[in-house]
Formats: sequence, structure tokens, C-alpha cells
Amino acid sequence: MVTTTHIPVLFDEVMQLLQPRSGGRYLDCTLGGGGHTAGLLQASAPDGIVLAADADASAIARAKVRFATAGPRLILRQCWLDELPDLADALELAPFDGILADLGLCSDQLEDPARGFSFTHDGPLDMRFNPQQSMSAAEWLQHTDLPTLTRVLREYGELPRADVIARAIWQARPIRTTSQLRDVVQKLVRRRNARLHPATLVFQALRIAINDELQRLARALPRLIAMLRRGGRLAVISFHSLEDRIVKQCFRASASGTAQAERDISLPATRLITRRPIVPTSAEVARNPRARSAKLRVVERL
Ligand SMILES: C[S@@+](CC[C@H](N)C(=O)[O-])C[C@H]1O[C@@H](n2cnc3c(N)ncnc32)[C@H](O)[C@@H]1O
Repeated sequence: MVTTTHIPVLFDEVMQLLQPRSGGRYLDCTLGGGGHTAGLLQASAPDGIVLAADADASAIARAKVRFATAGPRLILRQCWLDELPDLADALELAPFDGILADLGLCSDQLEDPARGFSFTHDGPLDMRFNPQQSMSAAEWLQHTDLPTLTRVLREYGELPRADVIARAIWQARPIRTTSQLRDVVQKLVRRRNARLHPATLVFQALRIAINDELQRLARALPRLIAMLRRGGRLAVISFHSLEDRIVKQCFRASASGTAQAERDISLPATRLITRRPIVPTSAEVARNPRARSAKLRVVERL
């Protein structure tokens, strides 16, 4: 798909807090449909530079068309979040004035049945941000053992009956499609919470595992802070409590000057720009229901 259906979340808040300006250098770690990249390009005109990356090659392909007139001001690369510091070093683009990571999925991925992210469309159970790499969710399920599946559902889906659900999924294998997986879960879990389909957390857990999302985030954050110029800001939008906890802990540690001894990279000192996360207004959620769980946190390098 050449055009995007994704509506950028917390757009005005991100622009206000990153304060992009002419001549600045910006990194959009999660290009998606390019909504925030467009804002960064516009606000940093006429000579600001934006490096925009995504693990998903289709986001890059779409952006090449959307931003065809941006010329050398926009550099597009397919890259994982935790590999961006090495890429930015190789391109000699750091330090940055502003960095954004808008985590999770974009609507283009969710709505494409071939990508297998959603149980509302039938499609192959894939769920990879980068389908050229590693195992699809169907292959992963086929190869995993029951304790690992149970742990993934418990830790990444926070499912109270993770062991029961894991056993049912494990026994139903091979599961090749999104509807097969949805049906297994649906039979098992009664729908107590009307807002949340029982398969939602199972799909979330598998997606996090397949793409190694939390480990990538935890590895990336200190290095992204280290790529900021003094006074430069890092903004992160997360969509569930597991991501938000990692962002909160890293930001608090950097703002309190606590070095992260367990990592071989020291954590540069920052100040918290958002003491509490910024959440979308009710008007934004009414316009774009996918924004409802978004939380924005920002730090500034000292
Ligand atoms: C919420 S969308 C970004 C939307 C974008 N800000 C916009 O305005 O259109 C998240 C994007 O990040 C990508 N992504 C998620 N986690 C990633 C990771 N760990 N490394 C690289 N890309 C990632 C996904 O492929 C998806 O395209």
C-alpha cells in the first residue's frame, strides 16, 4: 500500500516537546506511516536533517513515495531500534537535537491481513515487523516448548490463566492462521471485559516475543540518550504498561544520575521533562481510538 492509514498519536504534544527547529538533526526511530517524520521535516525546514527508520521495509517503501521531494534532508533506513545507534554512528549523524520512538504497531500493519497481526482479519499467523528475518509466529509456536509459551503469555500478556491458555494453544498446533489462534483462545476464555477481546493479550504477547520488543527497547534507550546533543530531547510513546515501565525506569535512572551498572554503557544524565506521562485528550481518543493507551515521556540531556 502506497498511502498510509495511520494517524500519528500525540502529534502536537511531540512537536511542542521536541521543539524541532531549522538546521536541527532529528531521529525518528519508528517511521511507520511517516506522520511524525512529516512534522519533523516541516518544522526543521529548510535545512534540518531527519533520519527515519523502521524495522519494516514496507514503511520505508511508502515513505520513499510520500517524501519523494524531501531530497537529502530525509535519510530513510530499515533498521531495528537497538541497532540505530550503530547506524547513526556509521552515517556520522549524531548528536541529535531530538529523537522520537513511537512504539508498537502502525495501522498499516494491523490492517494488512497478510501481516498476521490482527485476529479481526484472517491471514497467516506472521506478526514479524521484518518478515525477511527470523521465525513467523506460526513457526515460533511450532518450535517452542510449553514452559516458554506459558512464560511468554504470563510475562508479555499478563494473563492470569497463562498456563491453561498456553496448554490449549500448544495442543492445537499447528496453528497457521490468525483465526485459528483466535478460535482456540475464544473457546477457553469467557469475555468478562467487554472492551478487550480475550485474544487481544495473547496476540500482544506473541508479537512482543517474536519481535523481541522489550529487550530491544531496554537495550536501545541508554544509547539513544547518549546520542543526544546537550539540551537535546528523547520522546518515547508507549502503548502498554510493560513498555512504559522500561521507559519510566530508564528515564528516572538517567534523571537521578544513577549509572546503570549492569550495562556496559553509562547512562548520560538527563532531566525529566514529563514528570507524569502525557496521555491523549479525550478529543484525540474520539478521533483516533488507537491513541487511547498511549503514554508519552520525554527527557532532556544535560
Ligand atoms: C506506532 S508506529 C509509528 C507511527 C509513526 N510515528 C507515524 O506517525 O506514522 C510504530 C512503527 O515502529 C516500528 N517498530 C516497532 N518496534 C520497532 C523496533 N523495535 N525496531 C524498529 N522498528 C520498530 C513498527 O514497524 C511500526 O512501523
